Amino acid sequence: MSHKVIESPCGPIVHGLEDVLVKTTEISDIDGERGVLWYRGYRIEDIAERATYEEVVYLLLYGRLPTRAELRQLADEMAEERELPGEAVELIRIMSRAHPMFVLPAVVNVLGSLDPEANRTDEQSDIRKAIRIASKLPTAIAYHLRMSRGLDIVRPRKDLGHSANLVYMMLGREPAPLETRGMDLYLVLHADHEIPASTFTGLVAASTLTDMYSAIAAALAALKGPLHGGANEAALRQHREIGSPERVPQYVEDALRTGRRIMGVGHRVYKAYDPRAKIYKAFTRQYVEKYGDPEGIYGVAEALERYILGHEYYASRRLYPNIDFWSGIFWHYLGIPEQYFTPIFAASRVVGWAAHIVEYRRNNRIFRPRACYVGPHDLKYVPIEERG
Ligand SMILES: CC(C)(COP(=O)(O)OP(=O)(O)OC[C@H]1O[C@@H](n2cnc3c(N)ncnc32)[C@H](O)[C@@H]1OP(=O)(O)O)[C@@H](O)C(=O)NCCC(=O)NCCS
Repeated sequence: MSHKVIESPCGPIVHGLEDVLVKTTEISDIDGERGVLWYRGYRIEDIAERATYEEVVYLLLYGRLPTRAELRQLADEMAEERELPGEAVELIRIMSRAHPMFVLPAVVNVLGSLDPEANRTDEQSDIRKAIRIASKLPTAIAYHLRMSRGLDIVRPRKDLGHSANLVYMMLGREPAPLETRGMDLYLVLHADHEIPASTFTGLVAASTLTDMYSAIAAALAALKGPLHGGANEAALRQHREIGSPERVPQYVEDALRTGRRIMGVGHRVYKAYDPRAKIYKAFTRQYVEKYGDPEGIYGVAEALERYILGHEYYASRRLYPNIDFWSGIFWHYLGIPEQYFTPIFAASRVVGWAAHIVEYRRNNRIFRPRACYVGPHDLKYVPIEERG
């Protein structure tokens, strides 16, 4: 493990808390050496093949797979919760020119301000609020997408599943089964990933016993950063910039010469092929086989992957494509603008954030780390008149 340890007068400091344990968890586990991910003990491959996003929501929040009746009940509850209050719609309209990642925390705060049980912190109430937020975020994202383009909003439909409804509200048409599958698979694969910066931020906020809405708004703020949620946009731009498979070797060699990173490659935890990337690559291949690859982006990505996997520089550093390498291709062909990639990531991860918050609050202790002060002490205060 590569730690960025800083020596200080108070002792070594693990920069970025890399590999520092902050809680125990039963929600998700990553074996970065072998490239394995589990949700509540189930391998991501099994979940991705069979479960819908609603099933994953149940699994992560309640700790076990639902029965058919329990899943139906949760799906109905989520469908009922999709509509946004007028205040939130108005806010989205006012902020329709802003990047949607500025808008989502504001929407979540508005939702919190209108929820009579916002300030309760017991487990059942926290789970109910998590379900409300997870149900309403897609509507907020789709409304913003349409308002920002001067289009009429498309109200949610209760007869569609969570993912089909999200695509429907964004595009204004019912999605084909493979389009629904692409959305659902993406949401399933992003629902939790242990303790990245956004989950940690949500936990820090929640540990003060602030409300679930405020904690989720904090997590959203952390996800907005390009080091976290934004890599999928950058990877798509890169694939499009490369333009054709023949240009891959030149592009990679130029990147190496100038010290530029290949986007969508490498991972802080995975030192093997990201299992989510494997699954999403297979889906994307299936998608382009059916709908074509009109801009040749999938072809470029495949050639880039092949080149990197066979290159000594990347092999020796155990750098493999991650999920972001593959996920933008489908979004692009579906017609989703790049700035909505991170919001859709958030629409999925919100349930992981909430599950970790619920788990942590069972044995809550406010986060309060220390800093090692390295400045002077006991300076003589000089009155402003004497400072010149
Ligand atoms: C994800 C990421 C931040 C992980 O970083 P990390 O675990 O801290 O890895 P390090 O920064 O310590 O990198 C280890 C080595 O691999 C190199 N490296 C890491 N990612 C690289 C990439 N995408 N392209 C080229 N070289 C890369 C580093 O330069 C470093 O080389 P060195 O040992 O010669 O100095 C990093 O791989 C990255 O920036 N990837 C591109 C952005 C991306 O896809 N992010 C999405 C992550 S889900």
